[in-house]
Amino acid sequence: MKIRRVHWAALAAAALLAISLPLSAVASELTDKCDKCHGKNGNSEDEKVPTIAGFSAATLEDILHEYQDGDRPAVKYKPKDGDETDMVEISKKLSDDQIKEVAKHYAAQKFIPHKQSFDAKLAKKGAKIHKHKCEKCHSDGGSNPEDDAAILAGQWRAYLEHQFKLIAEHKREVPKKMRKKFKKLKEKHIKALIEYYVSQQ
Ligand code: HEC
Ligand code: HEC
Repeated sequence: MKIRRVHWAALAAAALLAISLPLSAVASELTDKCDKCHGKNGNSEDEKVPTIAGFSAATLEDILHEYQDGDRPAVKYKPKDGDETDMVEISKKLSDDQIKEVAKHYAAQKFIPHKQSFDAKLAKKGAKIHKHKCEKCHSDGGSNPEDDAAILAGQWRAYLEHQFKLIAEHKREVPKKMRKKFKKLKEKHIKALIEYYVSQQ
């Protein structure tokens, strides 16, 4: 990572000298802003902010367009050294090219699962439910970026709880086939599923 940063810094310096600005330099300025909330290279240190490192580029693009189009609500958040805003406002300021660039950047980073305490018994129940209802699209326990769905394994619990609530309350669009599986989930199933995702570290 260090090498790339130095490389980008050099590119940015070149841009200051009025040499044409390469896209990757633009991305580094932009992704520095994303990292303020999402953590270094997209690995978040706050349980309210999801880690976005290692998601597939296609997923990241889809999600950013969902926020842009108003298909997904977003909570306000204030990073330590930045202004309070939310993902809808942020995504609306991004061009299609910028969305492609940031997606490419985070897809190339490594998702580091969070170490969180969990209830092992409940996680075992969750694993069973996951296998029957969710594994088809969220394979390898929800850790495989190639599914083109968000990574669930090792994501922050508070963030997952919030998203499960939004989905259950129909405040967030999800694929029709996922909705069908989701409909049959009771509160206790959701708790077990979250425990399972959190348990993968
Ligand atoms: C002010 C803080 C802040 C900034 C800056 C920010 N984000 Fe976010 N982001 C959040 C929060 C909080 C959430 C989750 C909650 C929500 O959906 O409301 C989120 C959610 C996301 C998600 C959804 C992840 C998932 O699992 O579905 C993606 C993707 C994302 N952000 C990408 C970006 C990118 C790319 C940038 C930079 C262009 C960025 N964010 C800048 C705070 C921020
Ligand atoms: C037909 C495929 C499919 C099935 C089945 C499915 N999902 Fe999904 N899921 C997706 C896709 C695709 C997304 C990304 C949606 C988006 O772009 O907002 C997603 C997103 C999610 C998210 C949001 C994660 C985030 O960080 O934004 C959660 C939570 C989730 N799924 C849980 C489940 C659970 C639990 C099950 C089983 C009960 C399940 N899904 C079954 C395809 C599926």
